[in-house]
Amino acid sequence: MDKMIIEGGEKLKGTVEISGAKNAALPILVSSLLCEGRSTFHNVPELMDIKTVVKLIRGFGAEVKGAKSIRVDADRLDNVEASYDLVKTMRASVLVLGPLVARMGRARVSLPGGCAIGARPVNLHLKALEEMGAEVTLQDGYIEAKASRLRGATIYFDIQTVTGTENIMMAACLAKGTTVLKNAAKEPEIVNLAEVLKAMGARITGAGTETITIEGVDRMTGAEGTVMPDRIEAGTYMIGAAITGGDVNVLGCDPLYVDALITKLIDAGITVETIPRGVRVCGGNGIRSIDIKTMPYPGFPTDLQAQMMVLLAVGNGLGVVTETVFENRFMHVAELIRMGADIIVQGGCAIVKGVPALKGAPVMATDLRASACLVLAGLVAEGKTELSRIYHLDRGYQRMEEKFSALGARIRRVPA
Ligand code: UD1
Repeated sequence: MDKMIIEGGEKLKGTVEISGAKNAALPILVSSLLCEGRSTFHNVPELMDIKTVVKLIRGFGAEVKGAKSIRVDADRLDNVEASYDLVKTMRASVLVLGPLVARMGRARVSLPGGCAIGARPVNLHLKALEEMGAEVTLQDGYIEAKASRLRGATIYFDIQTVTGTENIMMAACLAKGTTVLKNAAKEPEIVNLAEVLKAMGARITGAGTETITIEGVDRMTGAEGTVMPDRIEAGTYMIGAAITGGDVNVLGCDPLYVDALITKLIDAGITVETIPRGVRVCGGNGIRSIDIKTMPYPGFPTDLQAQMMVLLAVGNGLGVVTETVFENRFMHVAELIRMGADIIVQGGCAIVKGVPALKGAPVMATDLRASACLVLAGLVAEGKTELSRIYHLDRGYQRMEEKFSALGARIRRVPA
């Protein structure tokens, strides 16, 4: 298993181009299962999670070709089972449930287990499918769902769920009648997916708001779609520039998508300006401690909480990080403390007292965003940081070490 070796202390300088968003590409690739004919998707990031979803789709009998532009021909599907082996490596595999039941009348998908950031149930996905007439049972660790044809329904989500909204929005496309999703998640990735579904013949209004209306159609046909830029990847490089006192142009991501982060960086005394195709982030005038609270979009994203904690860890003063989306998303704290950070966790809050400097150390990644946090900590720390279990990073960041190296960081991947 590879390791990342980081020698901290370099100010990041230059330009970084943001790749396509993992969290948009996954549901978009899955949406091809709803369609007769061929779909082509552009700007797909090259990531482990994309390889996993491609395997999953191939397993149902679809033909899949290409990398950055991926062609899927799902004309003939001959299997409706997503095995434990695939689902356990990527929880988002549950996204195939809705489309398979809608198109094939049946699906058998391994129930995702817990993960490093909490229990993460899928009860709301299942309840919504039942409300649309599916018979849902749990057997031998698998979710089995059946419906000769799903029917439109009004679904109220108790909690805003991103993949839950996407799963049911896809299922509703081929249902009989109209489905209304209330308290739907509003993430831009959902809007991106809805645009692709509409190009395939779906009738959807309201994506990006709390109420999404889908009028079912009898069939959908393959179409072209483009994956939006990865706002979490963009945010990670923006925070990198801020904490190292650097000057980085982050290109290819609409600043609107990282609005909450921009506001917080400015509050912390970082200079952020809009430039053509992106933002320029300059640090160097000290970091004021700030408080952050994670919320569903357009609030501060939980997927940037760990990375932002590094900024607070080297800021001046005391900041509070409140995590409201996942119950156990502070796994990175213990590792940051090993690097000299001063952090106390109390329930859903982390109290971070800035220290003059972090110190390099051997650390271990526990999940995707925690890994990104530890890379950032390594970049700003004095001395050498050795990050192991970096397969988490490869799930969600395209060639991270190359992008950071091009900005002047001393970071390299070595076989362990
Ligand atoms: C998605 C993102 C993930 C991000 C998260 C929150 C993808 C592939 N992943 O994950 O990167 O961190 O949104 O922005 O897009 N919940 C339930 N029951 C359910 C579903 C969710 O209780 O049936 C709870 C979850 O435990 C969590 C909250 O709802 O506390 C939000 O989770 P959700 O939006 O569903 O996260 P994911 O879609 O899994």
